[in-house]
Order: sequence, then C-alpha cells, then structure tokens
Amino acid sequence: MKKRILTGDRPTGKLHLGHYVGTLKNRIALQNEYDTFIILADLHTLTTKPEKENIQKLNENIRELMLDYLACGLDPKKVVFYRQSQILEVAYLYLLFAMLVNKPRLERIPTLKEVMRDLKMENASLGLLAYPVLQAADILMVRANLVPVGKDQESHIEVTREIANKFNNMYGEVFPEPEALVGNEAVTLIGTDGKAKMSKSIGNCIYLSDSSEEVKKKVMGMYTDPNRVHGNEPGQVEGNPVFIYHDLFNTNKEEVSDLKSRYQKGTIKDVEVKEKLVVAINNFLEPIRTKRAEFENNPELIDQILLEGTAKARAEAQETLKLVKEVMGL
Ligand code: TRP
Repeated sequence: MKKRILTGDRPTGKLHLGHYVGTLKNRIALQNEYDTFIILADLHTLTTKPEKENIQKLNENIRELMLDYLACGLDPKKVVFYRQSQILEVAYLYLLFAMLVNKPRLERIPTLKEVMRDLKMENASLGLLAYPVLQAADILMVRANLVPVGKDQESHIEVTREIANKFNNMYGEVFPEPEALVGNEAVTLIGTDGKAKMSKSIGNCIYLSDSSEEVKKKVMGMYTDPNRVHGNEPGQVEGNPVFIYHDLFNTNKEEVSDLKSRYQKGTIKDVEVKEKLVVAINNFLEPIRTKRAEFENNPELIDQILLEGTAKARAEAQETLKLVKEVMGL
C-alpha cells in the first residue's frame, strides 16, 4: 500500500514564493509517490480570528488557496482536497487527544509565543493553546505517515508524534508516528525587504498570483547589499536577497554565476541583476498563471473537487474513529 501524506494550510489568503520553496515544491513532487490528502484548515483560522467578519471571508480564501494549489500543479486526480470544518469526526478526535497532552507542553511551543507576541495577546484562548492538538487530529485522522510542511510547523508535528505514541501505548496500535518533511531550502525564504522572512503581514511578498508587472515592480524595488552604493564597488553575494532568489528561480545557472562574479568584482549595476531576476521569476510564474486561468474560467470545477475530496476524507475519518473507539473500549 502507498504511504500517506496529510498536509495543508489555513485559508488566510494568497500563497507566495516562500510557500513554494518551503513546502509546495515538496508536495508537488511527492503527490506521485504518496497517497496525498490536503486539508484547507478553516477551523484553525478561528484560533486567532473567531469573529464573524473573518468567517465570512473563508469561502473566498478557500477559492484562492485552491487556485494556488491547482495552478502550481497539485493534481486533483492524485490529491484529496477537503475543507476541515466539513469533517465532524475531527472534533471528536481532538477531544480525545486533548486528554493525552498537558498544558505546559503546549505552552512551550514556539509558534504560540510568536502569535501571542505578534497579536499582542496577554492570554491565549484554550483553542489557540490547543492548536497543535487540532493539527494532530487532522494528521492522525487519515493515519498519515508523512507531513510536508514549512519549518515553522516542525514543533507541531512533534506534538502529533507524541500524541500518536501515547495513544498507541495506552490503548493499542492505531496510528503511525508521522514524520515532518521540511522544504529543501533549510533557510526560510527572505522577503523582498531583505529583513524578515516572506510574510503577508509584513508586505514583503511576491505572490504566486502576481502579474508580470507586479513582479517587476517588486523586484526592481528589492533590497540588495546595503553597503554597496555604486555599481563599480564590489558587492556581497551571500545573503543578498536578489541572489538568493536567482539561485532558487533562475534556471539559467550560467547567467547566475556570471552575475555573481561581476557583482563581486564590482562590474555590474544592481539594475541589471534585478532585470534578469524579473525575467527569471516571470518565467517561473508563467505556466502557473496559465493553469490558474484555466481553473478561473471554470469555477464549478473547484466546488466539485472539494465535494469529492470531502467525501473521501470523511470516509477515512469515520474508519479511524471506529478503530479508535474499539481499542479504547468506548
Ligand atoms: N498549521 C498549519 C499552518 O499554519 C496548517 C495545518 C492545519 C496543517 N492542519 C494541518 C498542516 C495538518 C499540516 C498538517 O501552516
């Protein structure tokens, strides 16, 4: 039997290049080898945004996310896509798992501290604290073996492993101990500002859905080597965001090494490096744009894909819950 993947995202908006290198690329490669489930984790968005006005945005955000997935090449023939809130069983499993993990363990999770700091929150709700427990329910609900995610999610997968382990020891073997698979680029992709990781809240992103003009505008405004004032001064290539992007997205490796060596010698202006990067990123995004347009022109298709995916995910969830109750004697 094929091994199984469960992964996904919160539907909070469009995906960007950081998502691509951090995890999408992996997911696209792995869909051929693994039985893949992708969750659109709408309930997780309620952990920080339970207000009705945010809930009203979910349908639109789910559409955007599906368009990004499909445009990048995740294939609905190979992948089961489903919306978390449509599977009631996940809430039951979450409740059972809540008994197997203690409060200090969850308080130590770095993402919790980050979210609380970013949102200037004094006290976390029970739901926010238990965010990784809900994620464990997502993953174990389909008894997944592998979870391709961005680096920030590693600590959540660790909690999932602990819960699976504890459950199996207490009641009987039901769950595999899933492993996280973090994107090849061990570094998190830096934003166009060269200061922080690419992130929507900072506004330093290039989105997968950006037009070629938007890409041009963003790249031409990118930060480079802050110590280099003129094109005839030697510049720093390492850690320089324009070269990080060239390494990741420019398929013309000869051009990249030529640009780098001229940059180090001080015989090239930033403008030329950036112009070439505009071309490279647009070449990368062009097939994605074409594919996106296909799905945009056929809106019912996405509804259909989600409907079928939800039915499959539900069947898995029911089967898992049956096994869980059996071994627990509930
Ligand atoms: N927490 C993940 C994120 O913010 C989204 C998510 C929810 C997820 N459930 C999941 C990811 C299960 C992987 C597996 O990116």
